[in-house]
Amino acid sequence: MTGQHDQADAVTAVSRRTLLQAGAAVGAGLAGGIGIADAAPGTAPMPMPQLSPSVPPVVTLPVSLTVNGQRQALVVDARTTLLDLLREHLHLTGSKKGCDHGQCGACTVLADGQRINACLSLAVMHEGGEVTTIEGLAPDAAAGGPLHPMQAAFLEHDGYQCGYCTPGQICSAIGMLREQAQGQPSWVTADVAEPHPALTDAELRERMSGNICRCSAYPNIVAAIRDVHDQGKIPA
Ligand code: FES
Ligand code: FES
Repeated sequence: MTGQHDQADAVTAVSRRTLLQAGAAVGAGLAGGIGIADAAPGTAPMPMPQLSPSVPPVVTLPVSLTVNGQRQALVVDARTTLLDLLREHLHLTGSKKGCDHGQCGACTVLADGQRINACLSLAVMHEGGEVTTIEGLAPDAAAGGPLHPMQAAFLEHDGYQCGYCTPGQICSAIGMLREQAQGQPSWVTADVAEPHPALTDAELRERMSGNICRCSAYPNIVAAIRDVHDQGKIPA
């Protein structure tokens, strides 16, 4: 048994030594800027690739869209998200950037009447479209005009604490009530063939589950949305 072990150890040692020698030869060749093909006598040196950092050119595109009733025409980096267009180019900072990854809902706006996460949507995708942000829900409020019914309900039911998620919650709630009124089912709808599934609390919470509130104002948010729903204040 000992002899077999000695023999196996010798084979392993030779294999390891051969591997190390081969690795050292390749490493020395690479360090010296000589191609691996140099190992073969009479072979022309293989030129090493020149590695130089390359920065792709910035591609800009024109985009025109209507935001809160006003026509806007801009030229933006093609990679600009709708959220960055709103916040950085139009200075509409009501829509919040919470995660920038579609996970929190703080950036929710209404695009052609439907709720979307503005951080997941490229601005140029909204060419010719209509976008409504929290600033556009009650355009006369600053001059003493009425709030949007959903804004008024959030105030009445104390549906916020720090307020960071609130613009997204309100825009999302409006879009959600439209979806529900149009008969769109949710993950918890028992009968998806039912044309008008009732807005139970489970339905409401599921449909709003894309909007995170780190202050956990959920009970009051649910109460505010239910109030608006029960009074039929959101047209489909
Ligand atoms: S910032 Fe868009 S989902 Fe969080
Ligand atoms: S009110 Fe603070 S995160 Fe919702």
